[in-house]
Amino acid sequence: MRTIIEPFKIKVVEPIRMTTRGERLECLRAAGYNVFRLRSEDVIIDLLTDSGTAAMSADQWAGVMRGDEAYAGSRSFYRFEETVRRVFGFEQVIPTHQGRAAERILFSTVCRPGHVVPNNTHFDTTRANIEASGARAVDLPIAEGRIPSLPHPFKGNLDVGALERLIGEVGAARVPLCMLTVTNNAGGGQPVSMANLRAVSQVCRSHGIPLYIDACRFAENAYLIKLREEGYAARSVAEIAREMFSCADGCTFSAKKDGLANIGGFLATNDARLAELERDLLILTEGFPTYGGLAGRDLEAIAIGLEEVLHEDYLQYRLASVRYLGEHVFREGVPIVQPPGGHAIYIDAAAFLPHVPPQELPGQSLVAELYVEAGIRGVEIGTVMFGRTDPETGAEEAASMELVRLAMPRRVYTQSHVDYVVEAVLNVWERRSRIGGFRIEHQAPVLRHFTARFAPLYPFGS
Ligand code: F0G
Repeated sequence: MRTIIEPFKIKVVEPIRMTTRGERLECLRAAGYNVFRLRSEDVIIDLLTDSGTAAMSADQWAGVMRGDEAYAGSRSFYRFEETVRRVFGFEQVIPTHQGRAAERILFSTVCRPGHVVPNNTHFDTTRANIEASGARAVDLPIAEGRIPSLPHPFKGNLDVGALERLIGEVGAARVPLCMLTVTNNAGGGQPVSMANLRAVSQVCRSHGIPLYIDACRFAENAYLIKLREEGYAARSVAEIAREMFSCADGCTFSAKKDGLANIGGFLATNDARLAELERDLLILTEGFPTYGGLAGRDLEAIAIGLEEVLHEDYLQYRLASVRYLGEHVFREGVPIVQPPGGHAIYIDAAAFLPHVPPQELPGQSLVAELYVEAGIRGVEIGTVMFGRTDPETGAEEAASMELVRLAMPRRVYTQSHVDYVVEAVLNVWERRSRIGGFRIEHQAPVLRHFTARFAPLYPFGS
């Protein structure tokens, strides 16, 4: 058999409201051309994010009914804690309402002004939380990771030489921890190899620097190790995941990704003294240590999701559907980050629209065009998200890549939905020479991409 099928049947459905091109043009104009400002009802296929958008299983919904909502000592917490300990191997488990809450608690406990935190590539909330503590966030991807068209099995790897040089320059005392993001989301959803995890871990241990894994997509990363790294083909994904975490001293986790849940997260470590300080902060802003801002039912759903996400038939289907989208658009010439990532494909908007300079936001143009074309919502990961406006000159400092991410929610869309997305991308590709850029009309001082308003520099939608 050649066809990899969705390894589930559909039990509950959610209608999609179909819209016309004219309606979408109107919606986008009213949203200041920012797809974050659209109502989801006005979106046909929502590929804005794979975060919190998964379809839960019948077992998870049953778990929701079993949730123990006790303020303290909830049965659901102990189930959650036991699962996290078993899957991740860390003793201290601190539940949080989502990943960024775990980040905030970790960084505000260990980071100070003058500190430096390396990572393969920091996700936007990770960077923002590090910078909010006064520390500096430094991205150290391998050189191949910065070249979208270049295939490499482990493009998410961290540049170990660059890490050693950074520690040499600033001194280990100023590096309170090192992070590794699996898979590397901001760098194209690319995996980190076990060899790289081990090498980074060795450098960190030799300098007494704790290594933390940003584990949002750990199961996808573990499965890619199984498929691509020598010596892992016969190992189970669960074993590979345990080996990954054995290289680290702790992790942050957003259960909205590989937790197969709609909300939740945690911070985990083996350092009991540090965990005590972190729990003090948790109580202040998230909640009591046995619920941390979550309902008991959420803790149940996450515990079950963490088991289901390690099923290899699920992971095989998951990676196949992302690869299917990537291969079908690439075959027609659409430039994408190669190879397709674990949770998303990333279109190289700079190569898609070479006549639109970074200052005119080619990624934003492509996102707007995809929405008007077919009601598909993607997200710009380029100068809008990571660039900066010079407060004095007003000049735009461009990001290192101009990407558009089409992220696949887990277990939500079928192959015909993906075929529809392929058609839409190819239609926009065909008329690419007639697409122009955008300018920013209004922006917030931090994380501007969420709320910015844009204006087209060309007759948009005509
Ligand atoms: N780390 C990574 C690598 C992420 O991708 C995200 C979220 C977070 C941390 C923060 O987790 O949302 O639960 O607070 N990424 C989402 C995305 C938002 O669309 O990629 P959170």
